Amino acid sequence: MKIYRNISALITPLGKTALRGDGMRKNIVTVKDATIVVNDDGIITDVGSEKEILEKNKGITEEIDCKGLLALPGFVDSHTHAVFMGERSNEFCMRAEGRSYQEIASAGGGIHSSVEQVRHASAKEISQYSQKFVRNALSLGTTTMEIKSGYGLSAESEITLLHAAKRIGELTGMEIVRTWLGAHAVPKEKTQTEYIEELINEQLPRVIKEQAAEFCDVFCDEGYFTNEETERICNAAKRAGMKIKLHADELAGTGGAALAAKLGSYSADHLLKISNAGIVALAKSERTVATLLPITAMCIRSPYAPARKMIEAGCAVAIATDCNPGSSMSENMQLAISLAVIGMQMLPEEALIAATLNGAAAIDRATTHGSIEKGKIADFVLYDIPSLSYLAYHIGVSDIVTVVKNGKMVSGIL
Ligand code: NIG
Ligand code: FE
Repeated sequence: MKIYRNISALITPLGKTALRGDGMRKNIVTVKDATIVVNDDGIITDVGSEKEILEKNKGITEEIDCKGLLALPGFVDSHTHAVFMGERSNEFCMRAEGRSYQEIASAGGGIHSSVEQVRHASAKEISQYSQKFVRNALSLGTTTMEIKSGYGLSAESEITLLHAAKRIGELTGMEIVRTWLGAHAVPKEKTQTEYIEELINEQLPRVIKEQAAEFCDVFCDEGYFTNEETERICNAAKRAGMKIKLHADELAGTGGAALAAKLGSYSADHLLKISNAGIVALAKSERTVATLLPITAMCIRSPYAPARKMIEAGCAVAIATDCNPGSSMSENMQLAISLAVIGMQMLPEEALIAATLNGAAAIDRATTHGSIEKGKIADFVLYDIPSLSYLAYHIGVSDIVTVVKNGKMVSGIL
């Protein structure tokens, strides 16, 4: 048993489910002069003010002085595509010249150019290459990360990407949750119909057999997969025991958010073009978290998702990086928080909840992750900042001193 003591303030959301509406302002607490007790399994056994904790807890073998730093829960980045090969800075420049995401895709860029590079690489090469992004994320305060496949677009390469994602977790110490996104685009060698048959009859059975992913995601959008196709793929995945996430209403408002709610998806992601009916559907749904990706909106020069409207309607909102080589080359959750506050008018408290507990709910981890509470995994980060708002305010610069994962210091020293 060890004790992290001398924390000037600990700020955390409370609960084991996503917070919604005004709960995103109210269910957050500050403990001054705080202490966190962690057992040998890396689970928090007590949290509270130093005085009361020291009286209650005997049998502490290790004491760690946190030197008056401020503690926040580790970020849960619930939407990334952080296994890929190569880079696409050429597209970044094309966008600077005014070309749109869809124009670039039609000109031979986009998802297919990453697919070309992934198909030439082994799982070992992919994990060697991509691990640096995950290492960066850990040092920037992310302690749990969802990673999607989606740049393979064949049974063999999708499985290779999912194996690489697992390996990256072993190499870096990041906790990885894997999502199969075979339905990211249709590969050049197949028709839409042929590929959907392959997804359902070849890729899905292999993902299940090799236990390669927990979630199934579909890029449900104009020019990618229709609502009917999405429903068919997701129902097959659900029958096989998988949980669902959806890319929805990003490029066009096609009703993807409402479909996600109907399918019992854990999240509906992007939502740049969500309709009022979509907002109502997410507000009513008990499970589907509205996952917003402000770095992507900034990079593709789109107006941000209507976060305020969603929170006021009673949605549970999460934010994530969408880390990928095309539309969001960033693994920095703090940047997503700054943009949520600046671009989406979210309050710092709401942005923190969105980046922690609600992100955890979006990957079905809210009972164990996303807050600094008794019984949860000891994932927290010590910052040299005076307040929570400073995290959003100090744009693009990290004030992290130490990252604690499963009760152990994994990045930075005190
Ligand atoms: O989430 N929207 C779909 N997929 C990615 C982009 C993928 C790419 O351009 O490589 C996204 O933004
Ligand atoms: Fe994405």
